[in-house]
Amino acid sequence: MEHPDSHAATPPAGTGLFVVFEGGDGAGKTTQADLLCSWLAAEGHDVVRTFEPGDSLAGRKIRELLLSPETGDLDPRAETLLYSADKAQHLHEVVRPALGRGAVVVCDRYVDSMLAYQGAGRTVPLEEVTTLARWATGALRPDLTVLLDVDPRESVADKVDKDRLESAGEAFHDRVRQGFLDLAAADPERYLVLPARREIRWIADQVATRVAQLLEMLSVPTGRIDP
Ligand SMILES: Nc1ncnc2c1ncn2[C@@H]1O[C@H](COP(=O)(O)OP(=O)(O)O)[C@@H](O)[C@H]1O
Ligand SMILES: [Mg+2]
Repeated sequence: MEHPDSHAATPPAGTGLFVVFEGGDGAGKTTQADLLCSWLAAEGHDVVRTFEPGDSLAGRKIRELLLSPETGDLDPRAETLLYSADKAQHLHEVVRPALGRGAVVVCDRYVDSMLAYQGAGRTVPLEEVTTLARWATGALRPDLTVLLDVDPRESVADKVDKDRLESAGEAFHDRVRQGFLDLAAADPERYLVLPARREIRWIADQVATRVAQLLEMLSVPTGRIDP
């Protein structure tokens, strides 16, 4: 019997590639997304570099609400709904149009961050966050999620100006880390889990190797596609 996701391995031409970086604050997502995008651009790919929350017009305001200490105590359900709204708008405005023209979309944080922070971290029931995420995204899943795994004590500990999420405490960040690892373990083919404190270049090589395999498998075109 055909697996319901099996069409994902052979998408129609122009479906692009969706790569997501996940991991705690300071894990190296920005560093690695930069390196991957430079490599992809040098290979001639149409690359769209983006992030959540906040990379849409409405998203900027949602991000400010979510991260500003002035927001005060947000009910975890309210927080989850704000992240969901950001995702729905971001996919509509940025991600789907880019994938539709065959681009490689490299996104800093996506659904797993909501599952890890609001689900595992804030302990909103995971099935509920999963249902909400699926609804908000129309079940669009990344072709690859790179999880940069790091002990939270090695990444946010020294930061002075912590935002709302960064200042949520050690036990919270331990649950978030484990939440990410559990998601990756449940679906290993869609993940690349890397130790985030290895050499930057080594990590970038692992990512590029895996992305190159996917590009070949999915026949993602190089060179900009003009409409
Ligand atoms: N593999 C690594 N080893 C040590 N330090 C790193 C590594 N990758 C990134 N860093 C450093 O850690 C800090 C946070 O990296 P950044 O890419 O901004 O993380 P994130 O976007 O996940 O918050 C930066 O100062 C960066 O130079
Ligand atoms: Mg970053």
